[in-house]
Amino acid sequence: HYKRGYYMPPVQSTNWVNKEYVDKAPIWCSVDLRDGNQALVTPMNLDEKLEFYKELIRIGFKEIEIGFPAASETEYEFCRRLIEDNLIPDDVTIQVLTQAREHIIKKTFEAVRGANPKNVIVHLYNSTSYAQRTQVFKKSKEEIKKIAIEGAELLKKLADEDGAEYRFEYSPESFTGTEPEYALEVCNAVLDVWQPTADRKVIINLPATVEMSLPHVYASQIEYMSTNMKYRENVVLSLHPHNDRGCGVADAELGLLAGADRIEGTLFGNGERTGNVDVITVAMNMFTHGVDPCLDFSDIPRIQEIYERLTDMEVGPRQPYCGKLVFAAFSGSHQDAIAKGMKFRENDPEQMWTVPYLPLNPEDVGRTYDGDVIRINSQSGKGGIGFILETKYGYDLPKKMKEDVGYAVKDVSDKNHKELQPDEVYDVFMSNYVNI
Ligand code: KIV
Ligand code: ZN
Repeated sequence: HYKRGYYMPPVQSTNWVNKEYVDKAPIWCSVDLRDGNQALVTPMNLDEKLEFYKELIRIGFKEIEIGFPAASETEYEFCRRLIEDNLIPDDVTIQVLTQAREHIIKKTFEAVRGANPKNVIVHLYNSTSYAQRTQVFKKSKEEIKKIAIEGAELLKKLADEDGAEYRFEYSPESFTGTEPEYALEVCNAVLDVWQPTADRKVIINLPATVEMSLPHVYASQIEYMSTNMKYRENVVLSLHPHNDRGCGVADAELGLLAGADRIEGTLFGNGERTGNVDVITVAMNMFTHGVDPCLDFSDIPRIQEIYERLTDMEVGPRQPYCGKLVFAAFSGSHQDAIAKGMKFRENDPEQMWTVPYLPLNPEDVGRTYDGDVIRINSQSGKGGIGFILETKYGYDLPKKMKEDVGYAVKDVSDKNHKELQPDEVYDVFMSNYVNI
């Protein structure tokens, strides 16, 4: 049974396989300040978390997991600071994580005391996978379920005592290594304790704590849970993909198609090991399908600067939608096609985006066509070089001349073995001009 690393009975999937698009934005929950932060070499300090938090709000996140208040003094103080300094906008909900252990739950409740309960999600978790049950906790299925139930009961009791109708979330941690029938049993037992209603829905979060399967298998697990869960209409079904197999985005997208309502993820995919799912990619994938993601990524360079400064992480040059090189075209044929596509577009700027080789208009994410797209090296061609001379310096060269200048520029780049900046292209053009 365990040859594949974990036991998972086959799950039938029916509803999502023929859907082409994610056609509506999910509820987004940023876990940058918790899952992202806990994976940093040096976790953010209080002021850094605050600056990051404000940026998340500016982007449009309405749910933000701000930390694990019982885990450290900084985490606790950060939560208190948000509450005491009135930094939680009315339309934003902070989320705090707690293990299903009595003293940790109690400390978490202390941390959120005084906040408007409707702006607080208390997020309870315990591990349910075969591996964790047998190796880490050495407990039976019944015993592990009991941990979840007792945790849920304590949340309910403490909230009732405080007269505070906090929102609740439960995660069967290591869900992807948990037998779906058992995960369902545990989630249903928690739901029985919390008794969700239309006015007070409960979030059930199904983490790919470790991404173990092909994305369609995760989606099948999600569909199974979504179809069979009790109180489904009063449950917000949430995804929490990690990226161990490099498929976190696919997990999120197929998971949504399979019935989920919500995604927990991070900017640029920061998070444990290979990271959490990158919310920017999922959101911008929707955007390119014409769906409003309801998050503002129109100035990614700004977000990237803040992220890199506060986390000390780097965004790779090929990171989708964000990396330095993701819109760059060095090769002649690509440049030629892009230049033609842009010219074609001038006639009707409102048309759908069809420029070859560019998945979207770089300006939609705060990048410029100029400088980010047409880049000149020894692989470049007359189209790109002509484009630079025309758009930057006003020389619309005749075809043959463009070709000759193209060869001269490529030659200089090849001999010097380096990319040429627009000014250098211009210099080559001018110094060769009389001889061409
Ligand atoms: O990855 C995970 O399982 C988590 C849980 C605590 C939700 O981060
Ligand atoms: Zn996680």
